[in-house]
Order: sequence, then C-alpha cells, then structure tokens
Amino acid sequence: MRVLVAGDRGYIGALMVPFLRRAGHDVDGLDVGLYEGCDFRGGPRPVARRPRDTRDVGPVELSGYDAVVCLAALSNDPLGHLNAETTYAVNLRGTVRLAEAAKAAGVERFLFASSCSLYGAAGSDAVAEDAPMHPVTPYGETKALAEAELSALADDAFSPTYLRNATAYGASPRLRLDIVVNNLTGVAVTTGEVRLESDGTPWRPLVHIEDISRAFLAVLEAPRDLVHDEAFNVGRPEDNVQVKDIADMVRDTVTGSVVTLADGAGPDKRDYRVDFAKLHDTFPDLGMRWTVRAGVEELAEAYAGHGLTYDEFQSARFVRLRRIQQLLSLGLLDDELRRTTDEPFPSPATTLATEAAR
Ligand SMILES: NC(=O)c1ccc[n+]([C@@H]2O[C@H](COP(=O)([O-])OP(=O)(O)OC[C@H]3O[C@@H](n4cnc5c(N)ncnc54)[C@H](O)[C@@H]3O)[C@@H](O)[C@H]2O)c1
Repeated sequence: MRVLVAGDRGYIGALMVPFLRRAGHDVDGLDVGLYEGCDFRGGPRPVARRPRDTRDVGPVELSGYDAVVCLAALSNDPLGHLNAETTYAVNLRGTVRLAEAAKAAGVERFLFASSCSLYGAAGSDAVAEDAPMHPVTPYGETKALAEAELSALADDAFSPTYLRNATAYGASPRLRLDIVVNNLTGVAVTTGEVRLESDGTPWRPLVHIEDISRAFLAVLEAPRDLVHDEAFNVGRPEDNVQVKDIADMVRDTVTGSVVTLADGAGPDKRDYRVDFAKLHDTFPDLGMRWTVRAGVEELAEAYAGHGLTYDEFQSARFVRLRRIQQLLSLGLLDDELRRTTDEPFPSPATTLATEAAR
C-alpha cells in the first residue's frame, strides 16, 4: 500500500515508518518538525522535504495514497495544558482537516492515533471501547472529539479507524523521557534512584511502541469491514500495571538503584485500567510481544550505550514541553505554535549553547 504517515518525525513515527516499510509498504511522511535535532543515538533517517502543518494541508498533497496514518499532535497532557486553544487547533481541527483532504483525494483508509486518556476518570473497572468518555484534560478532550468528527466522515469510500493507544514506552530514535517507563528508567540510570512522584498505587495501561506499530500494521492490512469506523484499545491485558510495579522492575534491572518517594508524593488522579480484548479477538495473530520488563531492559541498555546524563535526561532534547518552550522563547514558533521559518530548527544542544552565551 502507499501510506502517508503524518507526524512521522516524532517518538512513535520514527519507529513506525521503518516498521511499515519492512512489512513491504511504500511509506512517505508529513511533519511540521517540532523535534528536529532532538535525536537519540543517531536519530531517524534524514529526509529532504519542507515542514508541513496539518492545519494547512489540502487534497493535492494526499492524492495517490491508499491510507493516511495520523500521529501528528501535541501529544501529551503537559503540552495540551500549555495552550488549550492551540491543542484544539492541532489535535482536533488539524486532524479533521487532514481527514477531509484525504477523503477528497480518494484515500480509503484513515488510521487515527487516539489515546486511552479519552476515558479519563474511569472508575475501578477496566474500560472497553464502549465505555463512556470522561476526558479530564484538553489533550483527552481533543482525542474524543476528533474520533466523533472522523466518524461523521465515514462512508462507503472512506474508513476511519481509531487506535486508542495506552501510554507508550520503548527506545526510539526520537526518544521521550516524559512518559512513565522511559522516565523511571532514565532517572535510575542517571542517578541511581527510582524516584516515584506518586505513592505508586495508580494503575497505568502501557504498550511498547513496536507493538503500537504492529497494531497499526494489522489495521492497515485488515479487510475493511473489520475496521471501518471502529475503535480499538491498543495494548496487552497483562500490561495494566501499577506504577510501583514498574519501579520494582526498574530497580531489579538497574544494578544498585533504590526506590524513593518524591517529597509530597501521594495518590494520583490518573488511575485506570483498560480492556484490550477487542483488539486481540479481532486480530488473533497480532503477536504483540513486548513485556514491560523487557522494555525496561531495552531502555536501560540504550541509555547506557548512549551515555545518557541527568542534565541531558531533563533537557529539551527529550522532554517535549521543554522543547516547545525553547522554540517559543527563540521566536521560532508563534503563539499558535506555527513555525516562523522553514529553515531547520537548531538542535537543542546548539540552542542551549546560544542561551548560555546570552
Ligand atoms: N506516546 C504516547 O504515550 C502516546 C499514547 C497514546 C497516544 N499517543 C498518540 O500517538 C501519536 C504520536 O505520539 P508521539 O508520542 O509519537 O508524539 P510526538 O510528540 O513524539 O510526535 C508528534 C509528531 O507530530 C508532529 N506534529 C505536531 N503538530 C503537527 C502539525 N500541526 N502538523 C504536522 N505535524 C505535527 C511533531 O513535529 C512530531 O514529530 C499522537 O497523536 C499521540 O497523541 C501517544
């Protein structure tokens, strides 16, 4: 299939694109390039193309594709809080514009990277796809609203599918350290502490980024009637885990590390479990294979191989909110988070040196 991945230069896209190519698909990308230069171990394969914003795309750019995968987003809660209006503009209106353009260009499939965070305050039962949505953040709200608007576009010629990913983990050429497994492992490797910011009791559904890619591939290749206008929670049932269990896995993996509680650590409102049965019943041969423990081991080895330091761990290279704030302060993004230049953004290292010199 000819596939266009929007948001291909981010954490998941940098791994998903080569994954889809290895499966035999012809894959292009489209990205505004917020994380240019934020590379881990060499970064993704370089591309020579202009940055493109989903808020500006039209049908001409989408013609000739069989499927569009939409990963492009301001993609976590802290970023969503930075500017709620812009989060709506990118995550909701940008997504719908991309889908409308795809539909107008005759693209038949649209795979939307949604999130389990749209369930929000879900109570103690594991939530399945038909559970009510109670998002508690602008980020979660935009995912719920985008699904509804995409569903309104579904017809005989256009099939959107909503992949509600659990919280991701795993090593990527565009690494993120603002997500729980990657974060706890990173602090342990760089400081010897597995530092819990909550009391460790909250439940978190988790999924490795390679297994996310596996789910997207399965949906891409599935007969249309299995996935047309359908939502799937993306993860493995056994990877609903408590934060304290992740901490123990990190402690067991990173030699000499100890589990500590941050000052004032208490219960956390984000506490929910997700039912992943529909995905595995629909795709019995899906073969998701990553356990959280294997992911912690992969990360610890990758961090050590890279020589990750605590300063770098906390820097704009790997923490999305910091990178966006840095680009805003340099005037390279305006207050709607639109690029003010098509010139490549400086890498975080260069940027830090420039800031230090002022
Ligand atoms: N990482 C997770 O834990 C997780 C969990 C659930 C869902 N998701 C969803 O999966 C998708 C990918 O997540 P990620 O972790 O790779 O995010 P990311 O922030 O690492 O990457 C997002 C990419 O989208 C690009 N982008 C942002 N705004 C754009 C715009 N207006 N036009 C074009 N490109 C734009 C960015 O430059 C970046 O390369 C997102 O939609 C996210 O909401 C992620």
